[in-house]
Amino acid sequence: MSNLWDPISLGNTVLKNRLAMAPMTRNRTTVEGVPTELTVEYYRQRSGLGLIITEGTQPSAEGQGYLLTPGIYNQAQIEGWAKVADAVHAEGSALFIQVMHAGRISHPDNTLGGTLPVAPSAVNPETHIYTLDGAKDIPTPRELATEEIAGVVEEFRTAARSAIAAGADGIEIHSANGYLLHQFLSPNTNLRADGYGGDIAARARIVLEVVRAAVEEIGADRVGIRLSPNNGAGGTVEGENYRETYQYLVQQLAPLGLAYLHLLHIGDEGLLGWIRENWPSRLILNRAGRPVSQIGADIQAGLADIESVGQPVLANPDLQERLQSSAALNEADASTFYGGGQQGYTDYPTLQEIS
Ligand SMILES: Cc1cc2nc3c(=O)[nH]c(=O)nc-3n(C[C@H](O)[C@H](O)[C@H](O)COP(=O)(O)O)c2cc1C
Repeated sequence: MSNLWDPISLGNTVLKNRLAMAPMTRNRTTVEGVPTELTVEYYRQRSGLGLIITEGTQPSAEGQGYLLTPGIYNQAQIEGWAKVADAVHAEGSALFIQVMHAGRISHPDNTLGGTLPVAPSAVNPETHIYTLDGAKDIPTPRELATEEIAGVVEEFRTAARSAIAAGADGIEIHSANGYLLHQFLSPNTNLRADGYGGDIAARARIVLEVVRAAVEEIGADRVGIRLSPNNGAGGTVEGENYRETYQYLVQQLAPLGLAYLHLLHIGDEGLLGWIRENWPSRLILNRAGRPVSQIGADIQAGLADIESVGQPVLANPDLQERLQSSAALNEADASTFYGGGQQGYTDYPTLQEIS
């Protein structure tokens, strides 16, 4: 029976344990999207975990959704991430940078170029987003022209190369949670009539093109992907046939030899079982909101190779020590999730600091 604390290989690296930090946007970089010394400290503190998956990181100025999020499309950003990679590696952990294009979940006030959000189709998400002037309604996005899609794929390719240049062990392609790639997968946000919309294969096409481009650029063992079947995030409505979409995707991705599939699981045990059987490499499972006592249970049950954890890692820089000694956990403070300085970021106490 596998245990959370056993080492495991992932791509071309070996993780010291099977606990991963789930990607979490924290809105604390510079306006230009450069990770700071505080970013370095935040990830360094959490490097007792075998794998750090970073917050969503935009592959272009246009791909930015929220304020003060990191990019990976210019030299200053690469240098910022290089400091994070060095710190994480010095603690014996591995680093995958999550590459996230926000698509329609954005606002011209939040992108450096002031551009209108782009999306598969001009469908308004009917929600608001925080800007420097407070919450504002999200405008209706601009539909990407067919000729522009190759450019988006290239942005991911370049981001993959830049992540490796920064010293990361790989990238995670964000195809979940209602952002651009998930907007292509989801029928209510993708109304396209060209080869990128319509049936499942057409809706999944850009995802596969992005993955293949990243694989060509940096090698499959450095590429992971995150999927969140039917989780409804960002106003996505995947419909009754969502399982078929994800089964198709998994079947198409399986031969590519990726480092991992990272599944955000909201309770479809049947689909999870199917994916576990049909996915040939590492499966990282994020069972959102599971009680702390359940961390490790999916690995023991053989349902996952690695478990990723979000809020408990955010609030407990020494989560692995606390789990190993059955110590109490700090509570996450939601008021400091998305912005601020050290507070709620690098100042959560370790066990040692409390005692
Ligand atoms: C503050 C915060 C920011 C998040 N940002 C991201 C993100 O950038 N990319 C992503 O894929 N998921 C993001 N998530 C989702 C988490 O990765 C994870 O799936 C979710 O928190 C459920 O896991 P948990 O119950 O262990 O926290 C975020 C979650 C939180 C709490």
